Amino acid sequence: MADHTVVLIAGDGIGPEVSDAVQSVLEAARAPVAFVQRYAGLAALDRNLPGTLPEETLSSIRQHRVALKGPCTTPVGGGFRSVNVELRRTLDLYAAVRPVRSLDGVTTRYDGVDLVVVRENTEGLYSGVENHITDGVVVSMKVATRHACHRIAHWAFRYATRRRRQRITLLHKANIMKMTDGMLLTEARKVHQLDYPNIEYSELIIDAASMRLVQSPSQFDILLCENLYGDIVSDLCAGLVGGLGCTPGANIGDEDAVFEAVHGSAPDIAGKNLANPLAMLMSATMMLKHLAERKDDPECSRAAERIKVAYDRALGEGQKTRDLGGTLGTREFAQAVIDRIG
Ligand code: NAI
Repeated sequence: MADHTVVLIAGDGIGPEVSDAVQSVLEAARAPVAFVQRYAGLAALDRNLPGTLPEETLSSIRQHRVALKGPCTTPVGGGFRSVNVELRRTLDLYAAVRPVRSLDGVTTRYDGVDLVVVRENTEGLYSGVENHITDGVVVSMKVATRHACHRIAHWAFRYATRRRRQRITLLHKANIMKMTDGMLLTEARKVHQLDYPNIEYSELIIDAASMRLVQSPSQFDILLCENLYGDIVSDLCAGLVGGLGCTPGANIGDEDAVFEAVHGSAPDIAGKNLANPLAMLMSATMMLKHLAERKDDPECSRAAERIKVAYDRALGEGQKTRDLGGTLGTREFAQAVIDRIG
């Protein structure tokens, strides 16, 4: 029975095929959700909707509070502004959370990786404040507000407490960006000292942290980052556990939440049944856990658990897509998961 309505934005490129695969798994797992399809990005323009982020899409998310989103293409250099950045800012989805963990059956250089990147999602260099100063000189403004720094720090510590995680490491470059990164540092220290002294807290300069992440990633628990560092570190961390095909994500605000994989629209493999739907499927299980907590519905967590057990078993038995060294297509991997749902 569908108890929860969720907005589905299939997205561009590989988005529609991974969305189809995920929907079939959720149905097989008896997840109590019904999807209402809305459009954004190129898919919205193709349907002659007004703009890349139509009001109908935004108002549906505001109405239902939760969306599952596929990737949206952003033109490089010119063209329209990023739909993803716009969506996160318009709905004030200020916390991006990206869990990264080693998976059974997915062999990488590292074992025992189990960390979460928490990224400030609304400001920094993504504010899009760029100016042409004079011929040959342009600037991009990095914005940090005390309000946004404080709330993301608070969100990360609260998340750590709820998920029984022990340590937060703040990644920064406050030795150079003394005011902007410095503000996040100041706010995180305050939140730690005043509200969450039991969570271990430390700070690392982003360049040194990058080196440590590839040397010994299992030492990290939660990584708290401003917007740009979080974006880059998320992809780096995805590479530690098998790549973008298996890294989920969520963008969470006080009101609304949009769940989406870290990967993009992958135009190089779109429409070929090659994309790994696992990252979006894992994002969908995060969505089910969110619904379970927000709506106090244990049926959602049971469905999430059924799906997680099934994809862990599939991977453990060597059922993998090509990006993970297997041979399955998008649909075949989804079927392998469905076959293992209890
Ligand atoms: P990308 O993540 O789309 O692709 C990078 C590489 O990873 C490609 O070789 C691709 O084939 C592979 N890959 C990605 N997802 C995969 C999957 N599920 N299974 C197997 N292989 C996968 O990044 P790229 O090429 O930089 O961006 C393409 C477009 O996506 C751009 O327009 C970009 O702006 C957009 N994008 C959108 C995001 C979103 O909607 N949240 C996030 C990142 C990029």
